[in-house]
Amino acid sequence: MKVGFAGLGNMGGGMARNVLQAGFELFVYNRTRAKAEALEGAVVMDAPRDLVREADLVLVCLADIASGREFFLGEEGVVDDAVEGKIFVDHGTVDLATSRDLHAACGAQGAGFLDAPISGGPEGASAGTLAIMAGGEPDIFERVRPVFDAMGSKVVHMGPAGAGTAAKLANQLMVGVNSLACCEALTMARQVGADLEKLQDLLANAWGQSRMLERCGPIIAREGYDEPGAPLRNILKDLSIITRQGKESGLSVRAAEAAFGVYQQLVDAGLSESDMTAACRCVSGELEG
Ligand SMILES: NC(=O)c1ccc[n+]([C@@H]2O[C@H](COP(=O)([O-])OP(=O)(O)OC[C@H]3O[C@@H](n4cnc5c(N)ncnc54)[C@H](OP(=O)(O)O)[C@@H]3O)[C@@H](O)[C@H]2O)c1
Repeated sequence: MKVGFAGLGNMGGGMARNVLQAGFELFVYNRTRAKAEALEGAVVMDAPRDLVREADLVLVCLADIASGREFFLGEEGVVDDAVEGKIFVDHGTVDLATSRDLHAACGAQGAGFLDAPISGGPEGASAGTLAIMAGGEPDIFERVRPVFDAMGSKVVHMGPAGAGTAAKLANQLMVGVNSLACCEALTMARQVGADLEKLQDLLANAWGQSRMLERCGPIIAREGYDEPGAPLRNILKDLSIITRQGKESGLSVRAAEAAFGVYQQLVDAGLSESDMTAACRCVSGELEG
């Protein structure tokens, strides 16, 4: 199977490298060409349509809903009558409507489509240990599975079109709220003089334990808020999708809305590239609420 990969950012770069290392022939496209050229062994393509022409399976990991829709359905979009028999996978975190629209558009041209968001951060993308949650036809999923296995250690078919995105939004609600809870808890503990290392060791065996504490605790302890990897703009985008969906569904998602407000304040203050743990700056009062 010839594989194409579009979007070699913090996540896509590591994922594409693992596909290559697993022995697949790989064609790559990235808006900023230098990132594609850095991937030794892959064939660099000039435009999305060139990539799609060469590959049987096209994996896409772009920044947001707008860039994803543009790639698939825009003026230069790749979904046209030349894609019959090909398979597309969207790894980006988008809303349910986008995943369903892309399923429908690909299906109308005789192409397969999976929404298959990812979790595990840039570290998981590099290590090939991502969680990959897919929605779409089970037989399409089985055909793509060997490639997913090169990128992830937990690869699950969640259900029909949109089921991967639904799982990812559930994950992101917990990520956004739990990260903020870690920022509040550890900043409060620090202020009263607690030893943060001892506290995290203790919490590992307490009800307060969480995957986000494992991830954010060490960053908060070393105040590494400006380290790259999980930028605030991503969680703000995801919580904006989640709170909008909550409203549309008549659900009250107040924890998600509160977290959204804090992250929005940080992004408004120019910190969109900082890590999610930069929320400690709001908690401590460094950034006035
Ligand atoms: N970072 C994480 O921890 C994480 C974890 C799980 C899931 N995700 C999700 O995975 C997706 C990618 O995240 P990421 O962290 O890899 O993002 P990123 O580092 O910002 O990379 C985004 C990619 O999209 C491309 N892009 C952005 N706008 C574009 C446009 N208008 N037209 C064409 N290409 C465009 C970028 O190209 P350039 O190189 O030219 O900028 C880059 O290849 C997002 O949906 C994110 O929510 C992220």
